[in-house]
Amino acid sequence: MPKEIYPGERRVGLVPAVLPTLTKAGFEVHIQSGAGVEAGYPDSAYSDKGAKIVAERASVFSGADIVVQVLCYGSNDKTGQQDLPLFRRDQILVGFLRPFGVTEVVQQIAQTGITSFSVELMPRTTRAQSMDALSSMATVSGYKSVLLAADALPRFFPMLTTAAGTVTPARVLVIGVGVAGLQALATARRLGAVISAYDVRPAVKEQVQSLGGRFVELPIEAKDAQDARGYARAQDEDFYRRQRELLGKTVQESDVVITTAVIPGKKAPVLVTEDMVKGMAPGSVVIDLAAERGGNCDITDPGRTSVKHGVTIIGPINLASTVPYHASMMYSRNVTAFLTYIIQDQKLNLNLSDPIVSDTLLTHGGEIVQGRVREFLTLPALAR
Ligand code: NAI
Repeated sequence: MPKEIYPGERRVGLVPAVLPTLTKAGFEVHIQSGAGVEAGYPDSAYSDKGAKIVAERASVFSGADIVVQVLCYGSNDKTGQQDLPLFRRDQILVGFLRPFGVTEVVQQIAQTGITSFSVELMPRTTRAQSMDALSSMATVSGYKSVLLAADALPRFFPMLTTAAGTVTPARVLVIGVGVAGLQALATARRLGAVISAYDVRPAVKEQVQSLGGRFVELPIEAKDAQDARGYARAQDEDFYRRQRELLGKTVQESDVVITTAVIPGKKAPVLVTEDMVKGMAPGSVVIDLAAERGGNCDITDPGRTSVKHGVTIIGPINLASTVPYHASMMYSRNVTAFLTYIIQDQKLNLNLSDPIVSDTLLTHGGEIVQGRVREFLTLPALAR
């Protein structure tokens, strides 16, 4: 496990607590010195659990059969490329690889000859739940988004009855109630806010209500809102226009709006327009968790906090990295569950009839082998 090199990244691929599981399964773990420090895991915590601490990054790569990273080249579009020459043909790589990203980048990864597994592609099945790193990171981001909002909002979140009078609770609206959205709702509720939420998938209504929230129903219906994998389907521009019109009032009545709506492989839909922001009370806050994917608010500056029309708009990037201790712990458990599943008796089991393997296997033998990714990158299907 090398140290993460994405600028500002504080997570780490494996935490000391998973080492006993890995060693019991026959793995020997090598850690680049200092890799866990920023997340709260010093070298001594790893060596106490039997890991070998390696000083040089290049030696970590050259001595490994399997490399575990959080942001690999692909998702690390800033500095990830420097790892490419360190890979060996027969190596296995596990991490966030951004498979629906830039064709040339995914091809460069393939050309190293490594067998790479992209954790973003984990199927959403009960069997794969313990390996689902995307959901883990969404949980972290959803939680942290509320803390950012509470910090930026010039008001209290909870209702307070004090000698100085009564304070009304903050109104928090979450648009897009997947894993991150649900965690944001639960966190806002714990802080005492009045919560409401909207999503195109009607199945979400019950989940919002079970958290004590109000589900905002709009008199429009999304066509085939959900695909077979549980993801939202893209809608036409007409739908999004109607949606913005109808959501306008609810947005304006909210002190905090948190948006999380993404469509895999597509630019995020615009749900909050500049006009809607203008209608919000001064001091209100928009947290755009889709900032990295183009943003759900059309005046978000990705990676920045800006104040426009008196409203604070925050477009965080790589938010999970700001809760590095637990984000790393969750990621590490997901990866460990995956490693001990695909590698047994020291052998990689490339059983392509198992979706946990075939969905996540991105590159092998010098080629991009994942069917959906090839289709997305408009590469011809591979003959099998
Ligand atoms: P996501 O990150 O893909 O999207 C966030 C949310 O935005 C989704 O709920 C989506 O419906 C919504 N959205 C998209 N376009 C929208 C629009 N125009 N207006 C309003 N909302 C819009 O979602 P995530 O977190 O990946 O979860 C999606 C579903 O998959 C959830 O029901 C989740 O519980 C389920 N899931 C199941 C897993 C399993 O069975 N192992 C693992 C992870 C998620």
